[in-house]
Amino acid sequence: MSLTAGGGADLWVRRAKVVGERDVVEQDVLILDGRVQQVARRVAAPDGIPELRARGRLVFPGLIDTQVHFREPGLEHKEDLASGSLAAVTGGITAFCEMPNTDPPTTDPARLVDKLQRAHGRSWADHAFFLGATADNADRLGDWEWLPGCAGIKVFMGSSTGNLLVPDDATLERVLRSGTRRVAVHSEDEPRLRERYGQLRGGESVALHPDVRDVESALRATRRLLDLAEKTGRKVHLLHVSTAEELDLVRERDLGELVTVEATPNHLFLAAPYCYERHGSLAQMNPPVRDLRHQDALRRAVAEGLVACIGSDHAPHTLDEKAREYPRSPSGIPGVQTTLPLLLTAVRDGWLTYPDIVRLLCTGPARVYGFEGKGTLEPGSDGDLVIVDPRMTDPLPADWLRSRAGFSPFVGTPLAGLPVVTVVRGHVVSQDGESVGAPIGRPLRYRA
Ligand code: DOR
Repeated sequence: MSLTAGGGADLWVRRAKVVGERDVVEQDVLILDGRVQQVARRVAAPDGIPELRARGRLVFPGLIDTQVHFREPGLEHKEDLASGSLAAVTGGITAFCEMPNTDPPTTDPARLVDKLQRAHGRSWADHAFFLGATADNADRLGDWEWLPGCAGIKVFMGSSTGNLLVPDDATLERVLRSGTRRVAVHSEDEPRLRERYGQLRGGESVALHPDVRDVESALRATRRLLDLAEKTGRKVHLLHVSTAEELDLVRERDLGELVTVEATPNHLFLAAPYCYERHGSLAQMNPPVRDLRHQDALRRAVAEGLVACIGSDHAPHTLDEKAREYPRSPSGIPGVQTTLPLLLTAVRDGWLTYPDIVRLLCTGPARVYGFEGKGTLEPGSDGDLVIVDPRMTDPLPADWLRSRAGFSPFVGTPLAGLPVVTVVRGHVVSQDGESVGAPIGRPLRYRA
């Protein structure tokens, strides 16, 4: 494989079923110097270009995971940028946006630069990092949000892992008035959460989690968020939506591009009470996985397009930490590697199509956050793609997982295909579950 001065490589993928936002067509893909050169029925490549024969396989543009927690710095016993990004590319994710609730949290430019330096030469995928909003930095965020490698601003309206928090409307309004990029929001109402955790005596079952952080906790915060988005005119992105009621609210308020919505595979593929009976605290996350009524509503919203993108909310903890008694067991489920296999099963089960996967993990993320050169195989775009073998239909194997967390509630789920080759800017970085070459991830670029 030729490595050029531009850092991109050349690759000729032949006879693949290329999945686009509208259709699936057998085509060749030619990547030169890390950029898509041509996608057509038959492409003639210059001599010496490395060739991948992909007959019978699907090719998707590289998938973008808009919400991961890779825990570095400070919590590397759970994950780090090397292990998390390796899990990402093994699962077909070629770019990720990482969350700021590390230790220390990413709350100023120096900490953003520190993360970028840590990622350099260690991240297998392209990347950007969110800055976390606080009462202290609220008025400075607009100065920082366009710094290179910044994914934008993340707000925690309710406490979750770490201590980042914007619990009140006055501070949230200051955050929304500082800057212009879409703000990503964890929407749970802190005052209500405090009240409800205060009623616990300890030793309750984790199956109570969706009642502790109940529908009203999510709905109340989302109502406040939409009010403030409308008042300030600032675009917001509602992360990991978990209730039918919030989806109805978004529909009713009809705020157009002001509000975009993200869902996680956990809320789409797990359901209470079974997930807690079967997996205990391994299925505990914030906002919680709820019952089938919510799962059905989420699946419908994803299929109809109300949900703009899917982010894994990959949130690893160790098994020892997860074994603590509820509510001291930490919230979070690893998932960066299992998103694509799960969505392939949704296609097999008939509630999504292959082009929907492109909408939810490629063009949708690019629309929501404005990535430059990502999420598409249009000529000139970055040569990122994932090749899927739809014939690999075994149960999801535990030894395929690369996250340091070492567990997934989806191990054993019958698959409808598995990613077999992942390509970042023309470089094969993962093949048949093993890393290839070196970690060549770079900061993502954005358009205003
Ligand atoms: O369950 C969760 N875990 N939800 C979050 O918002 C944070 C995440 C984590 O970082 O562990």
